[in-house]
Amino acid sequence: MKKVNFTEMKKGTKKDYLFLDKHEKDFANKTAERILKFMSNLTETLEGYQISRLEHSLQSATRAYENKESEEMIVATLLHDIGDELAPMNHSEYAAAILKPYVSEKTHWIIKKHGEFQMYYYAHHLGGDRNKREEYKSHKYYRDTINFCEQYDQNSFDPNYKSLPLEFFRPMVKKIFSRKPYSLL
Ligand SMILES: [Fe+2]
Repeated sequence: MKKVNFTEMKKGTKKDYLFLDKHEKDFANKTAERILKFMSNLTETLEGYQISRLEHSLQSATRAYENKESEEMIVATLLHDIGDELAPMNHSEYAAAILKPYVSEKTHWIIKKHGEFQMYYYAHHLGGDRNKREEYKSHKYYRDTINFCEQYDQNSFDPNYKSLPLEFFRPMVKKIFSRKPYSLL
């Protein structure tokens, strides 16, 4: 079989779906490669800043690596702004959704909320509430998310910082995205 015969899903057979399932698994196995390719193209998108979005991502991830974070946290840091292009209004949730099947609840939460926590550094200049993060004051990952923003995100816009290249992170990205998804464990 090269293609299924059905044109409506309700008419598909078990044989059709077993065939498609195999393709889907092969496709899912190449997620890390697609992510790395997408990241490598983020070279021109941080309008107004001194560095590209790729450089910001590498700088953040390099800081996480040098601070001896876990591999999943380093990968999450590398990808934390991957949603900027297609989901500029909720980029944190977008990145968190990509990571969710492969990382811990804690890492997922930090990435999902980092956008709101980052407001601390600029919202007051624009008439917004810089303390929005305080809504989460009693949350168990409140302090971790503050630390993520302070140590890896808000400070990674420096054109003179020597980041590790994307290739350095390739094995880590492949390792994390080849984990058996948490939902299937
Ligand atoms: Fe960022």
